[in-house]
Amino acid sequence: MFMSSSSSSRLGWHYDVFLSFRGEDTRKNFTDHLYTALQNAGIHTFRDDNELPKGEEISSHLLLAIQESLISIVVFSKGYASSTWCLDELAKILDCRQTARQIVLPVFFDIDPSDVRKQNGSFAEAFDRHEERFKEEMEKVQKWRTALMEAGKLSGFDLHSIANGHESKLIQMIVEEVLSKLNPRYMKVATYPVGIDSQVKDIISMLCVGTNEVRIVGIYGMPGIGKTTIAKAVFNQIYDQFEVSRCLSNIRERLDQHKGLLQLQQLLRDAFTGFIRLHDDIGDDDEGIKLIKREFFLKRVLVILDDVDQLEHLRGLAGERDWFGPGSRIVITTRDERLLARLEVEKKYHAKGLNNDESLQLFSWHAFKKPHPMKEYVELSEVVVDYVGGVPLALEVLGSNLFERSITHWRSFIEKLQKHLPHQIQGQLITSLDDLDGEVKGMFLDIACFFNGMDKDYVRKILDGRGFYPEMGFDILRERSLLTVNIENE
Ligand SMILES: Nc1ncnc2c1ncn2[C@@H]1O[C@H](COP(=O)(O)OP(=O)(O)O)[C@@H](O)[C@H]1O
Ligand SMILES: [Mg+2]
Repeated sequence: MFMSSSSSSRLGWHYDVFLSFRGEDTRKNFTDHLYTALQNAGIHTFRDDNELPKGEEISSHLLLAIQESLISIVVFSKGYASSTWCLDELAKILDCRQTARQIVLPVFFDIDPSDVRKQNGSFAEAFDRHEERFKEEMEKVQKWRTALMEAGKLSGFDLHSIANGHESKLIQMIVEEVLSKLNPRYMKVATYPVGIDSQVKDIISMLCVGTNEVRIVGIYGMPGIGKTTIAKAVFNQIYDQFEVSRCLSNIRERLDQHKGLLQLQQLLRDAFTGFIRLHDDIGDDDEGIKLIKREFFLKRVLVILDDVDQLEHLRGLAGERDWFGPGSRIVITTRDERLLARLEVEKKYHAKGLNNDESLQLFSWHAFKKPHPMKEYVELSEVVVDYVGGVPLALEVLGSNLFERSITHWRSFIEKLQKHLPHQIQGQLITSLDDLDGEVKGMFLDIACFFNGMDKDYVRKILDGRGFYPEMGFDILRERSLLTVNIENE
């Protein structure tokens, strides 16, 4: 896991996170778990351990701790506003937000954000009492109200709307958010990551980080299977072991067809500015190559080139191992296995998606905001998951489509599904087909419509008779992860 314990002092603040919470409500449960998770992730966190009755005024060491934190997390619970101590803390936090650009992340634990914003519900009762008690100090009360109004408007974490009451999920999301705030290089991986760890472990072992040669590892697989996600997760785990590291994600999507390689080299250059000197615009491809060589030569770099489908692009970015310093690692993701073979990468990893249990879990997170289907929906969920077969993109899209829908809606959705895929999924698959030449595309359509699951030799004969070159076509489709042949030769 990424460690930030030294980042706080190095960059001029003392704590990564200050935790503000109502002790009576959450000290021994939610806030305690949150604190432990933050610490375990290497995030240097301050919480006030003092359980003793407090004096009137907030202590100066607390004020200092707030001031010296980069991020404040405020856990709003029903009793938060009844404590003047908490309210003072919050006012100080929002001051620091204004003056020192402190990042404030509100967590709405068992309370609606609008109750915080408008001081309704339990907050209204608390304020009745405060107004009675601090009649002479209405400015102070007004300051608290303003602080709550501001904090309630910030984008934060609402236990019920985000994680449907799953505290551990919420905590995981908060930790991830904090990591990405602390480290601009930390990549957000997925809203509900499932089954990523074992894939990441496999790839990291292929990378053999620490040895002196330059290695390229390629991840290939069909669209939506999770290549970008795995690559980002790999990046997060190892980037701190390199002198320079960058992840260029979704390259294909970001490329303008006409500018091609030149634009890509510029993208890579831009990704590294901040670490390297700024250069004039790159004039042509060769100049780009020289630039890359000059910048990376002798440096131990980690570069992720995500979603590349043109060999010339790869050759222009990572054509020779000696462009990069000893110990460098390049991770490439692509839909086209052949690209990796032609680049002679050290290792190839076939991204195969999720197994059955993981698929059901990911689908459930999107359909129910829980790791398991609701009781009445178990069978229908299994039908959908079976149909989609482990492709995270499809599980996500279908799950979100079915969130909070009735059983009847589910039934008709499933019926329709067998005729049309939702357009978000279709779009992804079509981009993959668009790259194929006319003949191979024709073969793909024939196979998809008529020959799915049939004997390969039989299909070959028929396609042969239709004037195709089936063996070549099978190879291309297999390399692009559009076709698989099982051990029964089907
Ligand atoms: N293991 C996983 N757990 C949860 N969500 C995932 C996982 N893998 C992929 N996803 C989600 O599925 C979608 C497609 O994944 P992505 O990595 O973009 O696929 P690819 O790069 O292969 O096209 C993304 O929205 C991603 O967040
Ligand atoms: Mg991708």
